[in-house]
Amino acid sequence: MTTTVTNRVMITGKAKLAGVMGWPIGHSRSPRLHGYWLAQYGIDGAYVPLAVAPDRAEQAIRALPALGFRGCNVTVPLKEIAFRTVDLLDPVARRMGAVNTIVVDEDGALVGGNTDGFGFLENVKAGCPDWSAERGPAVVVGAGGAARAVVVALLDAGAPEVRLINRTAARAEELAADLGADPGAGLGSDPATTGRVTVVDWVSRETALDGAGLLVNTTTQGMAGQPPLDLRLDALPVSALVNDIVYAPLETPLLAAARARGNPVVDGIGMLLHQARPGFQAWFGVEPQVTPDLTRFVLEG
Ligand code: ATR
Repeated sequence: MTTTVTNRVMITGKAKLAGVMGWPIGHSRSPRLHGYWLAQYGIDGAYVPLAVAPDRAEQAIRALPALGFRGCNVTVPLKEIAFRTVDLLDPVARRMGAVNTIVVDEDGALVGGNTDGFGFLENVKAGCPDWSAERGPAVVVGAGGAARAVVVALLDAGAPEVRLINRTAARAEELAADLGADPGAGLGSDPATTGRVTVVDWVSRETALDGAGLLVNTTTQGMAGQPPLDLRLDALPVSALVNDIVYAPLETPLLAAARARGNPVVDGIGMLLHQARPGFQAWFGVEPQVTPDLTRFVLEG
């Protein structure tokens, strides 16, 4: 089915400007996503792709106020450079060590935020309204930038325990040490446990599923062209929610396996859509909605 967007307005000389900065940027679905909302809400604005090489990213970010941009999203591989370049960081971005949303404030200062964890949680809650982070341990597979955002979001939402499994244990341990420290709880005697984040060895990863309330894949495994995530689900309670942040394909082998054994599943496209909401609201002044029509439109692109 082809989705059409009505209410398209041409931009004027007063158009509000924002965009997405990354390298490369041609694959990004964000211009299509924000363009849909601009048209839907009849806003005189533009959201453009900004192809910026890493060695010029600082210069480009600093130029946003001079160019009259209200801000921009930042994507791979520039999120850490943005973190180091902005004038002010919000507390979530500070903990994540990465910035995906920049807002130019009234004084022209660059304010860095990170909405990836917000997008993850909003997607999971929208897809499975009965789920709550507080209800049980969460298992997160992977320890890259996406995992960092997911773990912060789960801890902030009150997850009692986050079990982290990653092929390279050192990366998981670093993430646990950075994020898991919980001054109130004290450290357990197990050296692999740091506050509420527990690192489980890759070889014993299947045991981490026992008693879990949520399983999230943040690795590249299961993406089109990649092998499926190598994880047997036998120990996972059938009540556990399974989410994959991969959205191409929408139904990854992990989600198909989880669905076949009766687990509730939530696919990954909503994380992209929901993470975009705070930036759109800050730049264009409207709180945008994620709808089935928007989801179809973005997936068709
Ligand atoms: P991002 O920032 O998008 O999360 P990343 O930093 O490249 O991306 O992280 C990719 C994740 O996929 C990592 O957790 C990586 O595991 P390693 O830290 O061991 O590299 C995981 N990953 C990639 N290929 C994998 C594979 N074949 N098996 C298991 N995990 C894999």
